Amino acid sequence: MDAVITVLPGDGIGPEVAAAGQRVLQEIALRFKHRFEFDVQQIGGAAIDAFGTPLPDSTVASCQRSSAVLLGAVGGPKWSDPNAAIRPEQGLLQLRALLGVYANLRPVKVMPELAAASPLKAEFLAGVDLLVVRELTGGIYFGAKTRNKDSASDLCVYSVSEVERIVRVAARLAGDRRGKLCSVDKANVLETSRLWRDVTNRVMRQEFPEIELETLLVDAAAMHLLSRPADFDVIVTENMFGDILTDEASMLAGSMGMLPSASLGDSSRGVFEPIHGSAPDIAGRGIANPCGMIASAAMLLRHSLRLEAEADLVDHAIVSAIASGARTADLVRGGRPTLSTREMTDAILKFLH
Ligand code: IPM
Ligand code: MN
Repeated sequence: MDAVITVLPGDGIGPEVAAAGQRVLQEIALRFKHRFEFDVQQIGGAAIDAFGTPLPDSTVASCQRSSAVLLGAVGGPKWSDPNAAIRPEQGLLQLRALLGVYANLRPVKVMPELAAASPLKAEFLAGVDLLVVRELTGGIYFGAKTRNKDSASDLCVYSVSEVERIVRVAARLAGDRRGKLCSVDKANVLETSRLWRDVTNRVMRQEFPEIELETLLVDAAAMHLLSRPADFDVIVTENMFGDILTDEASMLAGSMGMLPSASLGDSSRGVFEPIHGSAPDIAGRGIANPCGMIASAAMLLRHSLRLEAEADLVDHAIVSAIASGARTADLVRGGRPTLSTREMTDAILKFLH
């Protein structure tokens, strides 16, 4: 297969992990005789520095031409003056909106070998295999914002059709897994959540009667994620709740650095990025965990290029590398020597040969 992949390294550790993702995709191309062309473009703070905007036209044009987008991370102290009109994060949000990638899939799988890296007791972690489907192009992230001397506001809006389409994506995914869907809202307080709950109940009753539906308020969901994480199969929720709950859920897997994501819309073109941020504290040191990015590259192969065998191989290589003892610093508490980003990537590449 021939495919053009836009690579957006971004800021902080973004370029370090993006390079790892690219190496893995390149190895897959070699092994399976595909031709992947990487079109590297700017986004976020790096784009502000080079173009004065976090999402240059050249970046948008590249994404629209390509089969998929692989993205590192955006943001950093250099661009985080609270009063700045232009921020790196705007580039990412605009890109998600422009490409219409409303469904953000964030799988959380616990590898038994990493139980020690998690702050939770191992007995709670056994069998954790859940998927958060986060609505990505609506809600409070995209509503009108105001600010004056005395007050500020962020508007949260959801339409019926925005809820319908994300619930359908989540329900179909649940159908391919263990057949359980948990919808998370705050319907005891928020009107958008009452709409969310009504629409979810109707879509599930009418279109997916075979899927078991559970509904949780977000505060309770935050607790249940720690007290009974293995019970969850697919969780569907709105933009901001999904953002918060997946950072929490990453602690089940041992580190933020482990978790990938796929942002999908109605076409096959998706945006694939680890859920972690730009980690300015470790940027430039070459020690970032590339697993979340490499697992995101696997999701790219699976969802945008429909290369299932290739995607499975990459996922297995990550598991095998971890099982063989390969660890970056975020996965180890004190003591034992750890691998750099490059060495960890090498350890994973070894299992692709
Ligand atoms: C994420 C990030 C982004 C978000 C930021 C960088 C805008 O935290 O992808 O989870 O909040 O969506
Ligand atoms: Mn986040």
